[in-house]
Amino acid sequence: MKPELLRYLRCPQSGQILVLETSDTITTPDLESSREIKEGWLVSEDGQHRYPIRNSIPRFVPESNYADNFGMQWNHFAKTQLDSHSGHPISAKRFWKATNWNSDEMKKCWVLDVGCGSGRFAEIALGTGAQVVALDYSSAVDACYANLKHYPNLHVVQGDIYALPFAPESFTFVYSLGVLQHTPDVSKAFAALPPLLAEEGQICVDYYEKSLKSQLLPKYWLRPLTKQMDKERLFSLVRNAVTVLLPISRTLGHIPLTGNLLKRLIPVANYEGILPLTETQLQEWALLDTFDWLSPIYDNPQTASTVRLWLEQAGLKDIEVLKAGHLVGRGRKF
Ligand SMILES: C[S@@+](CC[C@H](N)C(=O)[O-])C[C@H]1O[C@@H](n2cnc3c(N)ncnc32)[C@H](O)[C@@H]1O
Repeated sequence: MKPELLRYLRCPQSGQILVLETSDTITTPDLESSREIKEGWLVSEDGQHRYPIRNSIPRFVPESNYADNFGMQWNHFAKTQLDSHSGHPISAKRFWKATNWNSDEMKKCWVLDVGCGSGRFAEIALGTGAQVVALDYSSAVDACYANLKHYPNLHVVQGDIYALPFAPESFTFVYSLGVLQHTPDVSKAFAALPPLLAEEGQICVDYYEKSLKSQLLPKYWLRPLTKQMDKERLFSLVRNAVTVLLPISRTLGHIPLTGNLLKRLIPVANYEGILPLTETQLQEWALLDTFDWLSPIYDNPQTASTVRLWLEQAGLKDIEVLKAGHLVGRGRKF
């Protein structure tokens, strides 16, 4: 953790400022801003609540929680979807298409990534020169930190969207991509974000879209069983299934006219013809995303009208709700 993060942090239980207790500050001699506090404690002003800093990451949540599947997933596939690793601007395209933000405006601002996973979108935000706080509930934060710690403008926090450890109005940009549908109360999860925006600050969130077509996806027939399974067992099952199902899906996908429809019947993430991946990457992304479909405890798609209502209820202006791959909602604080 870098010392400059401290002024934005608050005790998630009491809202009090936090005091740093540490004997272990690593200072890079030539670069003041790259000081890292590797181990220590953050203590609420009244001394009632203590939060550890472990492996440079302040931790505000229990080690094990409902997002353990994501911790496993993002530590296993730590680099898979990072553009710097895949060699393709897939995450960048999704980020800019969803947010429509101006990279020059982001430079030097404080930006919050809620549900950062292993950091595919944080990497894009960091590239603008912004100070990026990447937060996740799960041990995905360890993968994110390992991936991106060479950025002097990175700050990683393990925390819960329902008890965010930040002062109100701390951020000029807040985004949460691929996350909110995986929380138990999606409306409450969204409502936690606008209070963190500074005046004129901008927010962008996305969701799986709720529609008849999406409800018929075969993952929804399987999830009642798979979401309850032991994650290691499910992972090995998915690994075996993908070796069989991916070739079937690819064969169906090549059938003229009906191919795209037919391949939707096979419960495997098949990006052939959709993303510019090599053969090895196609297999790896298939395993990652098929596990990502089947393992989360929560999968709550939303409609455009609900997303608009939440943005309005939060008192935002310049509201836009659109389909940009996923269902995207954007707005700006008055
Ligand atoms: C599908 S992953 C998306 C990760 C990343 N945004 C991406 O698109 O690669 C969803 C992430 O949301 C996180 N998450 C779920 N519930 C959360 C909560 N209550 N607070 C913070 N993060 C949460 C999970 O741990 C997981 O890393």
